[in-house]
Amino acid sequence: MTLRKTPVAAFIGMALLTCFGASAASSASKPARPWLNTHLSPDQRASLVVKAMTQDEKFQLIDVQFGDTENGHVMSPGALASAGYDPAIKRLGLPALQESDAGLGVAKPHKLGATALPSGLATAASFDPALAYAGGAMIGSEAHHRGFNVMLAGGADLVRDPRNGRNFEYAGEDPLLTGLIVGHAIAGIQSQHVVSTIKHYAFNDLETARTTFSADINPTAARESDLLAFEIAIETGHPGSVMCSYNRVNSVYACENDWLLDKVLKRDWHYPGYVMSDWGAVHSAAKSALAGLDQESAGETFDKEVYFGKPLRAAVASGEVPQSRIDDMAHRILRSLFASGVIDHPAEQAPIDFAADRKVAQHVEEAGAVLLRNQNALLPLSGAQSVAVIGGHADKGVLTGGGSSAVQSPEGNAVPGLAPTAWPGPRIYQPSAPLTAIRQRAHGKVSYASGEDIAAAAKLAAQAKVAVVFVEQWSAESFDSPHMTLPGNQDALVAAVAKANPHTIVVLENNGPVAMPWLDQVGAVLEAWYPGAGGGEAIARLLYGEVDPAGRLPVSWPRDEAQLPRPQIPGAGLASIGLIPQGQPAEHVDYNIEGANVGYRWYQHKGIQPLFPFGYGLGYTHFAYSDFKPRIEHGRVVASFTVTNRGKRAGVDVPQLYATLPGSGEVRRLAGWCRVSLKPGQSAHLEVTADPRLLVNFDASGQQWQRPAGSYQLQLGHSATSFQGQGSVTLPKASWPADAPPKGASQSCLASRS
Ligand code: BGC
Repeated sequence: MTLRKTPVAAFIGMALLTCFGASAASSASKPARPWLNTHLSPDQRASLVVKAMTQDEKFQLIDVQFGDTENGHVMSPGALASAGYDPAIKRLGLPALQESDAGLGVAKPHKLGATALPSGLATAASFDPALAYAGGAMIGSEAHHRGFNVMLAGGADLVRDPRNGRNFEYAGEDPLLTGLIVGHAIAGIQSQHVVSTIKHYAFNDLETARTTFSADINPTAARESDLLAFEIAIETGHPGSVMCSYNRVNSVYACENDWLLDKVLKRDWHYPGYVMSDWGAVHSAAKSALAGLDQESAGETFDKEVYFGKPLRAAVASGEVPQSRIDDMAHRILRSLFASGVIDHPAEQAPIDFAADRKVAQHVEEAGAVLLRNQNALLPLSGAQSVAVIGGHADKGVLTGGGSSAVQSPEGNAVPGLAPTAWPGPRIYQPSAPLTAIRQRAHGKVSYASGEDIAAAAKLAAQAKVAVVFVEQWSAESFDSPHMTLPGNQDALVAAVAKANPHTIVVLENNGPVAMPWLDQVGAVLEAWYPGAGGGEAIARLLYGEVDPAGRLPVSWPRDEAQLPRPQIPGAGLASIGLIPQGQPAEHVDYNIEGANVGYRWYQHKGIQPLFPFGYGLGYTHFAYSDFKPRIEHGRVVASFTVTNRGKRAGVDVPQLYATLPGSGEVRRLAGWCRVSLKPGQSAHLEVTADPRLLVNFDASGQQWQRPAGSYQLQLGHSATSFQGQGSVTLPKASWPADAPPKGASQSCLASRS
């Protein structure tokens, strides 16, 4: 879908919203609205409203309009020129629903701008749920101050393929990491009285033919992979809404998939909120309603017809859909609005402290960039060195991923006009130039070459002590990359610069793992993802050692496409940026190939060595682990150990606990981790509780989680393939019904320093 800004209409919309806030406040003279009693529970309040609603009001609530002007849509006067709008029901004191994309910040209107967080993968790489919460709270607060009360944020699809165009919106390949990071981000957003929408439910793990392909996966693998990530995120963050995805799952469209929506989400997980559709993802009225869809999004613009209009009314009239289902839809939506404070704390326009918010984004990038290579301690740089900065528009800013989640800075696009300028563009750069930030730190000469002329760039590199080459890969919603190769002449550029200067550092601004044929020729590589609003400053601080790189890969980094479960993605590409799609897209994508063995588990299962493993990342110091002792305490698996900073600089470490279940074919799972900051020589005594949800298997025939009896191998990892400490515990057989799974640990890492 495409969205465009409409500033005048946006202004009118905000004015209306402010007026509405005033009338709600003076509601004393109006008929009593018992649901405004904040002592009642969200469910009690929702029930009272539903009782007072007319059928027309209910149908209004379950059919949200497009909030912008694309695709011939005439925007309603109250809309804010963003993703979705549903007018206020003033009679009942219900505010308009104003929906904004997305998980990396307030995406629309572009012209107003907002603060961009770095990629979701950067937040995940921090392995820091508190940081995810802080990032969520920052973007939630900007949404609230722009007048939005629903944020389409919380991307929890697992990264099954490095070429998936939306990986930058997600949180990696591991269900526990994704669940906890996304869950905390959602909690942060909702702390600002904005409903957060976890998405895209489910298995929207590729973009090629996303509106038609069927993700085929057996129910056991489904529950142990993507669904587990959603389950943990929902339990952690309590999102008011879940967005069902475009694709089909086992041949049935996700938004009319009874198994996904009604059985798994609403019955097994007891989800009390509402399911909204993705934009153009609804294909039926009665079938969708009976399967559990609660709200159709922008159907008048993106669906074949507004299914939750006349067709659904007819289905109710004929008895095909009971009235109670319509009441339930309204109840669920209202319940979430009450639960997240949307009604008690109306969103309204207020000034935003962009300087403070940019620091939050910068902090996330500093914690989430991953140092992949650092030969002979080339990094950190010293201020005395002369530097040749090359490529990646590093003189202007840092790259942002595209599509509905793209956030433009209030200062505008630092490099306007690059292809594609239309959907899924525009291609946006944050005005945070690494070159400027490097100049502020280097006392030696700093020069810049764009990299277009490879010979000129190599010449410049030869004249400097070190060369820093910025390479980029623009990616966006709606397409996948057909391969892992960096676009244009960038591989040749890096190779030429590395030949000219042995002290070459590569900074990647990308969607995720790419091929690096020049890896052995360069001294250092920093994975900066899409670095966000303060990205240039963050990158310079990392390069100069003002902060220790502490990010750990939330995805495995394959050597090439041949190592992937599906080496080809037929039909992948985007012609407007020179990625010409080859072949017909698949109608079915077979996720049973890897099943629940996503990412690092696939490589273990197949005995393949990826280039860099999940959980890997270097710093400017190093850590040693000792005294690893697993035990069972109150039925839980707890591992204690000591981490010591053995280097000369302060740094942050992420020791990771992996568990191998009996009979699991030696595939280990991340079961917990700690994130600890230590001074040189300092030690910390840590205890990690293994998350019980990772110590069970799903039994589809018995509809239960089973913990097999036997010996559980536990390993303490610097990554998913490098261990220092192992042991085992014996657990008895146990089982839990699908609707009452084992509960996660409330505090999974305990630390004391010495
Ligand atoms: C995307 C969603 C987004 C929606 C509204 C769709 O194209 O898949 O993630 O929230 O548009 O902009």
